[in-house]
Amino acid sequence: FAYEQGDWVVRVGMTNVAPDDSSNNVNVAGADLGVGVNVDSNTQLGLNFVYFYSPQLAIEVLAATPFSHDIGLDTVGPLGSTKHLPPTVSANYYFSEPSAKFQPYVGAGINYTIFFDEEFSSANSNAGFSKLDLDNSFGLAAQVGFDYMLDEKWLVNASVRWLDIDTEASFDLNGSAGTVDVSIDPFVYSITAGYRF
Ligand code: NI
Repeated sequence: FAYEQGDWVVRVGMTNVAPDDSSNNVNVAGADLGVGVNVDSNTQLGLNFVYFYSPQLAIEVLAATPFSHDIGLDTVGPLGSTKHLPPTVSANYYFSEPSAKFQPYVGAGINYTIFFDEEFSSANSNAGFSKLDLDNSFGLAAQVGFDYMLDEKWLVNASVRWLDIDTEASFDLNGSAGTVDVSIDPFVYSITAGYRF
């Protein structure tokens, strides 16, 4: 079962992005509206590409189909939605004897989150909200996980990541500029099946 230098592993499965979100209050034309925003969770198809530099050190890329999140206005209701892709590159350290079936690891790396298709709900659009834009985010990533080798080629994996994702949302409300800073900082849970090449 031993991982060897030069091994590639591809994993495919479900990835859930669960924001641990907080925000400051929405500001419009210098006025504090007294409410913040929140972001819900979403599950998509997750893909991992892993390259082993040695039996215990691997570089991993996280990719996924686009996540879609509803954005709410605290105590008020739905505000809008956004999609994003959070590509993440991590260096992972494997603890076990290389020949072990159970291969736990810890990793650290960087995340770049690209927001797109930001839009207000139709009710908010009708109320005069427009031009929603979320800044892309660059930040640290950390994770723990394990591979469990089923045979020489196939494995199952589970991992939990934390991504430091912060963004400024800007918009227009009936001709006045608005902003809100949002800390999304999600936990990202993945369960995948993998194949070693
Ligand atoms: Ni943060």
